[in-house]
Amino acid sequence: MIKWKNRSEFWITGAKLADPESRKIRAGSIHINNGRIEEVVWKKSIETDLEIFDAEGYLVAPGFIDIHTHLRDPGFEDKEIIATGTAAAAAGGYTSIACMANTNPAIDEPSVVRYILDKNREAGETRLYVIAAVTKGLDGKEINEFHLLKEAGAIALSDDGNFITNSKVMRSALEYAGLLGLPIISHCEDPDLAGDGLMNEGYYSTKLGFSGIPAVSEEIAVARDIALAKLTGSRLHIAHVSTAGSVELIREAKKKGIPVTAEVTPHHLTMDDSLLQEYDRNLKVNPPLRSLEDIKALKKALKNGTVDCIATDHAPHTEIDKQVEFNFAPPGMIGLQTAFSHLYTELVLSGELELIDLVRMMTSAPAKTLGIPGGTLETGVQADLVVIDLDAEWIFNGKVNRSKSFNTPLADRSFNGHVQGTFLAGKWKQMV
Ligand code: DOR
Repeated sequence: MIKWKNRSEFWITGAKLADPESRKIRAGSIHINNGRIEEVVWKKSIETDLEIFDAEGYLVAPGFIDIHTHLRDPGFEDKEIIATGTAAAAAGGYTSIACMANTNPAIDEPSVVRYILDKNREAGETRLYVIAAVTKGLDGKEINEFHLLKEAGAIALSDDGNFITNSKVMRSALEYAGLLGLPIISHCEDPDLAGDGLMNEGYYSTKLGFSGIPAVSEEIAVARDIALAKLTGSRLHIAHVSTAGSVELIREAKKKGIPVTAEVTPHHLTMDDSLLQEYDRNLKVNPPLRSLEDIKALKKALKNGTVDCIATDHAPHTEIDKQVEFNFAPPGMIGLQTAFSHLYTELVLSGELELIDLVRMMTSAPAKTLGIPGGTLETGVQADLVVIDLDAEWIFNGKVNRSKSFNTPLADRSFNGHVQGTFLAGKWKQMV
């Protein structure tokens, strides 16, 4: 437990600082004044009359940024509310998150954007950015008044959860959003091909007798949206990429200079479809967990820059929602509180990913992807930071869970690397 009384000017010393921009982790100290980073010096200690936050033995990095969270408010407050979703985020080391539009009502009116931002001002534990819906009620037919949504504070547009099947609607949406400089985040899935599939189509769906969702149902949608991004020149972001074929399409599109970016979730990087043999409803996600070959391609894409960043797709559902027959369970798992530790344990400690690259993929990379502030240690930026004990082991159980829901296949799992707390505009939030 770190003891600290908030004050407006102080130094953080003794830490190992992770600087995503220079891709370096080295000893350093940070001078914080009035909620902003005043100076970073690459020395473990400094002489000062100011108070010192002693971060000896900890890793200090820019606060994490999640660009794909489902906060469920308004409409599904039994699953999550803004206070609990942002608390789970803060406990996972996030200082900024962006919430998706599939609420009820959907975020398709400026009043809903304002309602969410107001709620976060009252009860939020992180900064919150709003992603508004592309179409009215997420119906895929009629596009919303993007300029009014932008005026109200929306920073991107998405019908996440649904693919916009009508190509003319998607084309118009990209044209209109492009004029306003708003990216469109696409949930790529051909619904006819995906049908009533419950898991990835392949060996394990055959073995279990489950109807499958083929990889091409995603790839067809990715290919169409890339073609429309090329046609319109507008910014397209592909949500939760899950297949090797999608990676290939995105790689080719980037080579041609088409303005496309992509994210991958912690679960698609670490869990394959063989796990469905446990029949755990918390492993039912959309897109589904794919094959080991897909995972290999996703990891490679993360390292070579084809995939731009990591995003959680934190999708809370209640126990009652999930404790039904597999085909009736809604897709989704929570992920904000475990994302860093999960990937640190599985990818960094195994030697597959450098720690600084994991930090970069959760800080400066998502910020750049959606064009939101944060994710760096530059002078003058808001002092949003995370303090992590890399040596600590911890168990993610119901007692420490901060989300309102606990739909996770990682329940009672032990992880390395524990977030101790965050600074939000220089204000300390202790997590343990
Ligand atoms: O698994 C998922 N759950 N994928 C999505 O795209 C939507 C999300 C949800 O809203 O529950």
